[in-house]
Amino acid sequence: MTDFPHRSIISIEQLSVEEIRLTFERAKNYLANWDDFTAHTTTLTGKTVALAFFENSTRTKFSFEIAARRLGATVLTFTASSSSQQKGESILDTIHTLEAMGVDMMVLRHQSSGIVDFLSQNSSIRFLNAGDGQQNHPTQALLDAYTIENTANKSLNNLRVCIVGDILHSRVARSNIQLLTKLGANVSICGPKTILPKHTPYNVPVIKTIDEAVQENDVLIVLRLQKERMENGLLPSLEEFSKYYGISSSVIAKNPNISLLHPAPVNYGVEIAFDVAQDYPNSFIKQQVTNGVAIRMALLSLINN
Ligand code: CP
Repeated sequence: MTDFPHRSIISIEQLSVEEIRLTFERAKNYLANWDDFTAHTTTLTGKTVALAFFENSTRTKFSFEIAARRLGATVLTFTASSSSQQKGESILDTIHTLEAMGVDMMVLRHQSSGIVDFLSQNSSIRFLNAGDGQQNHPTQALLDAYTIENTANKSLNNLRVCIVGDILHSRVARSNIQLLTKLGANVSICGPKTILPKHTPYNVPVIKTIDEAVQENDVLIVLRLQKERMENGLLPSLEEFSKYYGISSSVIAKNPNISLLHPAPVNYGVEIAFDVAQDYPNSFIKQQVTNGVAIRMALLSLINN
């Protein structure tokens, strides 16, 4: 058995603590050689990585593309709107077609929960889940945990981390709860009842107010309101959400040591104020993006073994 036996990255659930640590170690090495672009260019030489995003993305898509190119892969972008899917081809047929052309790895984001797992079981292509429905976003969770430990410099063991906002529709929340719990953190959630799940994943506690969430935690992971997945009527208004759950400078002042993360894109003035996101010294939103490239390089190279 190798140190990293996985052909595909579908969810955090499949990864052991040792495999997560190995991923972090590898990401750290890539970051240490960040400016030496030639250092890693042969790892995926001769391999073809296809990016298929059926939902919009900036960060995940481009960071996977940069990661794969840095490792020397040939990168293809699959565009559903100009593909034969428009003529009725099934996604499984599409995958088998790409497989027949020699695609080795596929980075897939799709609105259907579970689809990446299904496709990985029915194809020889190695998959990296870039977000499936409301279920998993494993690379986001890995880059978040990595950022807490290595950029915010907080050990995850017994760390108090609160995930704030739209937990109900969030694959980032699910993957983060799984990962942070696995690594020893005490995770809680905070948000309006209508956008919290009825059964909290892993029975994490619910914190009622944003002031308590800030005062009682070491890290806040603030989530985007997923308006595209929301039924009408879940929130009275964005202004009201912002008033009771938004992160403003007066809220953050209640615990100036708290670290602030957000997977982005950010709705400024809704879940977080622009000045807090940009200027608060313990806001790590930009560093999350950089760390994301290294985490994705680590995973691409590990599944290539
Ligand atoms: N955090 C995240 O998944 O961002 P994108 O939707 O831009 O990929």
